[in-house]
Amino acid sequence: MEIIISKDYDELSRTAAGIIRDQVTAKPNSVLGLATGGTPIGTYKELIRMHEKEGLDFSKVTTFNLDEYVGLEPTHEQSYHYFMHENLFNHINVNPENIHVPSGVASDFESYCRSYEEEIKGAGGIDLQLLGIGSDGHIAFNEPGTSLASRTHIETLDELTIKDNARFFDKPKDVPRFAITMGVGTILDVKAILLIANGEKKADVVATFIEGPITSQVTSSALQLHPCVTVVLDEPAASRLKRLDYYKWAYANKPKLAK
Ligand code: PGA
Repeated sequence: MEIIISKDYDELSRTAAGIIRDQVTAKPNSVLGLATGGTPIGTYKELIRMHEKEGLDFSKVTTFNLDEYVGLEPTHEQSYHYFMHENLFNHINVNPENIHVPSGVASDFESYCRSYEEEIKGAGGIDLQLLGIGSDGHIAFNEPGTSLASRTHIETLDELTIKDNARFFDKPKDVPRFAITMGVGTILDVKAILLIANGEKKADVVATFIEGPITSQVTSSALQLHPCVTVVLDEPAASRLKRLDYYKWAYANKPKLAK
């Protein structure tokens, strides 16, 4: 894992967007895995700026989102369909036909989950997957106890996730109890991973998933098994890493390898 520590949220967002820009520039028809939540909003703002001011071109890009609440129509303001259009898709030149967000209102979820996996495979797999992390250590909606080999499935949300996400809804009881989510195994199949986390609230879980044991109780810890993971943190989120000084030194002194 490469750990990059930014001084604040703005720098983190610029760094993360820069990694996505480099991917899209190197491979214009990249398949990007995208995430929702508070954390990626700054990254998406920066990508929109790069599109508007620097001509970053998304016309050949394909996207797959991680998850969606079960029961929310795409037009619901708290659905992840709505979030992605508001915060990114409406402001860049991605082809609507290339956008994939799992449906929260499928009539047969079992076959729908299988077809989502097939669509990812059919697109050639995900080149770069953006991830946030929940305070319970989840990636996508893979709550504690989810198999580290899981594929796209319906997940029962943990109390902590419902509490964390209640801030987006009028009342805590409005937060859906179930979600459709890529599995941990689906995520481990992608070619490269970019995980972002900011704020002191994430400091404990960040230290746990990077430096703790691999366990299904902290599904993000499975990323230790992936060969190409970049973690971009701000100083508060990085503050409880035991080897903080090492990560900083290693990044600042990274040898420039000839291509
Ligand atoms: P957040 O959520 O970005 O709103 O903190 C992250 C997550 O639950 O994956």
